[in-house]
Amino acid sequence: MAHKSLNPGDIPKWRREFLNKIVHGDCLALLKSIPADSIDIILTDPPYFLDKMDAAWSDARVSSQKYHHTVKSLPAGMKFEPEKGLQFYRWYLKASHSFRRVLKPGGFFFSFSAPRLYHRMASAIDDAGFHVRDCFIWLYTQNQAKAMSLHHFIDKMNLDEPTRKKLKSQFQGWKTPQLKSCFEPIIFAQKPYDNTFLNNMLNHRIGLVNSGVKIGRNMFPANVLTVESVEEIIDKYFLLAKPSRREKGSFNRHKTVKPLTLCEHLLKLTAYAEDTIVLDPFVGSGTTAVAAKRLGLNYVGIDSNLEYVTTARRRLAES
Ligand SMILES: C[S@@+](CC[C@H](N)C(=O)[O-])C[C@H]1O[C@@H](n2cnc3c(N)ncnc32)[C@H](O)[C@@H]1O
Repeated sequence: MAHKSLNPGDIPKWRREFLNKIVHGDCLALLKSIPADSIDIILTDPPYFLDKMDAAWSDARVSSQKYHHTVKSLPAGMKFEPEKGLQFYRWYLKASHSFRRVLKPGGFFFSFSAPRLYHRMASAIDDAGFHVRDCFIWLYTQNQAKAMSLHHFIDKMNLDEPTRKKLKSQFQGWKTPQLKSCFEPIIFAQKPYDNTFLNNMLNHRIGLVNSGVKIGRNMFPANVLTVESVEEIIDKYFLLAKPSRREKGSFNRHKTVKPLTLCEHLLKLTAYAEDTIVLDPFVGSGTTAVAAKRLGLNYVGIDSNLEYVTTARRRLAES
């Protein structure tokens, strides 16, 4: 039987505006145009509210010396700002309420985080009414340590040279309590399902995990993932295909591009229907959208930064 082709007038307005598009704007404002219960999966990497990367994400602000209050020219990640966690919680609680509204019952919500902010993110998602099902650990070895020595502060003290030297040698090797971060947590949450899992799958075609999506020798999908070779045993069980050199695009200037293979894995685990819709409300340079496209799924990408919107569109056009 031939498929009845849809007249453009029959396609709901929100689909025409958002489906398989990268849309420029504030996601909280734009999501109001998407009806409730219409998205299958949200896979996103929000601003962490660290290093000035808050809801007003701006590269210029991050590199501006004006905002480095304590130590001038402090590199990204070195300034510890305890109040950021609560700010992030309040903002992400509000965001998670709107994510929950647009998701279908049983729909999944994956959100990347940072180890020292994870508790705030998980609480916001939990408090917005999601079921927190698990937490993935994305393991890596290459990252810069963020701890600082006290030399800078000692130099600022009014001390004679011998006392200064003595103090420095007394604390030689002792640094601010920041570890070299070697993992990123990714929350795995779910909008409450409709009655039972079976009922939810029959009615909404989302809500279960595909246990056939294996990595290496693992017999069941695990909550540890890596995209770089770490060590034989770890590689055997948790190593996804490594990112290719070209996948990011030479024109991509985004600071926090996620690996495509990792995003693809999370989507493969949970996408059941062919017409699955994947939303990334903080799409950045478009990794989630490219992953969805490569798997033949639909995507909706939103970003408030026009440069990243342009980058994401180009990546999609070239993928
Ligand atoms: C961590 S980055 C995402 C990077 C992305 N995963 C990638 O692979 O390129 C977060 C993005 O959120 C965007 N953003 C921040 N606040 C936003 C808002 N209110 N609405 C939409 N996008 C926002 C920023 O411009 C930034 O590109």
